Amino acid sequence: MGRRLLLSGTALITLLTISSLSEVGAASFKIVNNCRSTIWPALITAKTASETEQLPTTGFALKSGESKNISIPTPWVGRIWGRTHCGQDSSGNFTCLTGDCGTGALECDGSFGQPPFTFAEFSINNIEGLDFYDVTVVDGFNLPMLVVPKVTSGERACGTTGCLVDLNGACPKVLSVERGDGRVGVVACSNALYLEALEGNPKPLMDPSVSTKYRWSLYSRFFRSACPRAYTDPYEDRTATLTCASADYIITFCPSPNTGKTTE
Ligand SMILES: *[C@@H]1O[C@H](CO)[C@@H](O)[C@H](O)[C@H]1NC(C)=O
Ligand SMILES: *[C@@H]1O[C@H](CO)[C@@H](O)[C@H](O)[C@H]1NC(C)=O
Repeated sequence: MGRRLLLSGTALITLLTISSLSEVGAASFKIVNNCRSTIWPALITAKTASETEQLPTTGFALKSGESKNISIPTPWVGRIWGRTHCGQDSSGNFTCLTGDCGTGALECDGSFGQPPFTFAEFSINNIEGLDFYDVTVVDGFNLPMLVVPKVTSGERACGTTGCLVDLNGACPKVLSVERGDGRVGVVACSNALYLEALEGNPKPLMDPSVSTKYRWSLYSRFFRSACPRAYTDPYEDRTATLTCASADYIITFCPSPNTGKTTE
C-alpha cells in the first residue's frame, strides 16, 4: 500500500514537473493557409531563451487548406508573415513577389523580409510571464491575417486580432504594388513609410511642407478603416497590442472565404 502511494506520488511529481516546464518553456503556433493557393510563411526571432533554442523552421511552403504546428521555445520575441508568388528565378534562387527574405532559399534565416507586407508580432512569456501580440499593416499589406489565442491554462480571456480584409483589390493606385512579372494584378499595398523610401516614386502627398504625421494620417486612413484592429500608423495614440498568458496561437492567412486571391 505504502509502495503504491509512493509510486503514485513520484508519478504525480513527474507529471507536475513536466507540465510546469512545458508551460514556462514552450508555446506553439498553428499556422493555417486558408488562401486559395500556396503561401510561404516566414518567421524571424528577435529574442529567444538561448541561442541553442532556435525555431524548428524560419520559412516553409504551406499549400491551400494545409496547416502546420510549430513549437516556440519561450521566452520568444519575433514576427511572422506570409510570402506570396514564390518560385525559382532564372538563376535557381528561391524568390517571392511579396515578403521576400532575400536569402535565395526557402528558409529566411534571420531576414526581416521585404515590405510591403502584413505581419504579426509576438512577445511570448518574455515580460512577467505575459504574452503581447498584434497584427500590423504599418509596413503595408500583402495578405489578410487573423491571430486567435488558444489559452492552455487559467481563465484569462484573450482577444483575437488581425487584418481580415483583402486590401489588394481596393488598394489606391499610388500605393499598389503590381506583380511586375508580365502578369497583371496587385500583389501588395504599400503604407506611407515604404512609399517615402522608394526613390523616384510619384509622391502626390509628399509635399515637404506637409508633416510626416499628417502624411501618415492620410495614407493610413485607408488601412485604418479596413483593418480597425491592426496597427496602421506609427503615430496612432491607441494601442493595438493585446495581452494574454500561457497560450498557443492559431495564425490564419486569408481567414475569410474568397480572400487572398494569390492564384495564378
Ligand atoms: C500544437 O500541437 C500541440 C501538440 O499536439 C498542441 O498541444 C497545441 O495546442 C497545438 N497548437 C495549436 C495552436 O493548436
Ligand atoms: C542567389 O542568391 C544569393 C544569395 O542572395 C546571391 O548571392 C546570388 O548572387 C544569387 N544568384 C544569382 C545568380 O542571382
